Amino acid sequence: MSPPSQDVVQLFAPGTVVRDRELVIAGVTASRLAEEFGTPALIIDEDALRERARRYADGLGARWANSLVVWASKSLPVTALYRVMAEEGLGIDVAGAGELVMALAGGVDPARLVLHGNAKTDDEIARALAAGVGTVVIDNFDDIERLGRLSIRAQSVLVRVTPGVLAATHAAIATGQDDSKFGIRLEDFAEARRRIDATRWLSLDGLHAHVGSQIVTLEPFVEALERLGGLGAFGVYDLGGGLGARYTYADQPPSVEAYLDALTMAARASLPAGARLIIEPGRSMVAEAGCTLYRVVSVKRSATRTYVAVDGGMGDNLEVSLYGQRFEATVATRVGGSTRCSVVGRHCESGDQLVESVELDEPAVGDLIAVPVTGAYCLTMANNYNGALRPPIVFASRGSARLVRRRETYEELLGRDVLA
Ligand SMILES: Cc1ncc(COP(=O)(O)O)c(C=O)c1O
Repeated sequence: MSPPSQDVVQLFAPGTVVRDRELVIAGVTASRLAEEFGTPALIIDEDALRERARRYADGLGARWANSLVVWASKSLPVTALYRVMAEEGLGIDVAGAGELVMALAGGVDPARLVLHGNAKTDDEIARALAAGVGTVVIDNFDDIERLGRLSIRAQSVLVRVTPGVLAATHAAIATGQDDSKFGIRLEDFAEARRRIDATRWLSLDGLHAHVGSQIVTLEPFVEALERLGGLGAFGVYDLGGGLGARYTYADQPPSVEAYLDALTMAARASLPAGARLIIEPGRSMVAEAGCTLYRVVSVKRSATRTYVAVDGGMGDNLEVSLYGQRFEATVATRVGGSTRCSVVGRHCESGDQLVESVELDEPAVGDLIAVPVTGAYCLTMANNYNGALRPPIVFASRGSARLVRRRETYEELLGRDVLA
């Protein structure tokens, strides 16, 4: 039996409550947020975000003194987020020049940046080196050639290896298996090391592995760590990200603390005691802090179901159509209810669904729908399908809300066109 739909509040950020049947997010009612910022809009509970960053940083620091939590910024690359994470003392993982630019604009200390990417261009590497990025993660032999050629001063590098660990997650976000497009094969590591050592400026400080995303068991992380330990003693071990978020009632991902316990226990057994331990959480850092507010545009009753069509969809959330990710939803002003509905988007594809089947309270045109756990990888992949404008991002905290990225405009939509 599915849980009563008012339980949906458990999936939102911890500061979310229901008052007079309405969702109140970080002290701000859903209807006030929608009125002030329009829909669709991504609402981030800033306090929940900071609390999660501290839980990670304090938790890892308490278990392994020489350590750093690096936020995988691909999960929600917005300048204001970079600023928050920098204020909380985290390092930042940037994959490519765009994320680098936003991180620098957010005031991140370049020395705390970790540059990733399986296809870093000359231009991206040159920009990162010019900015003084602290660590570059080498993903392949071409990276070694490029970095060796473009570096003009000492540069710390890690080698990302493919640990040969297949984690149970969607194929599109599993990255640790043999023949992954990411990383250097374990058997090629010695050759990579030889080539790095032959460069003038690159200093191989350690190893990196990332086994994938939305992983809800601890074994793959431990296995990957053990494989890194098997490659020898280094000063740095970067264990990547990957811990899953709780999207549905059934999801039970390990807590941050259980994850850190497992990693540090395995590190004690397999890694040098003084080594620096780095982790790169993305999804588990930001997913739960975010929720998306939509407005119902149309309600259609077919023979088999009730379609609730909203003013967003796969333009702001591709997780459903790319990975089949299940989300929950509620009418934001009438939490609860028992009308089984399909919440669908406004885009021209039948696959444009937000929630295939969910119980709502008699949704009507003009109602607000809230979808929890949209903080990670939703805005990241927002697009202009059907000319949709990419939504704004709003920080809510202690009863007030502020815009940190405004909605795109139609002028911006036309702004790059070149007409003869
Ligand atoms: C190298 C690297 N580190 C960290 C992450 C973050 O993973 P997650 O968001 O699942 O924590 C990713 C995500 O793809 C990644 O590629």
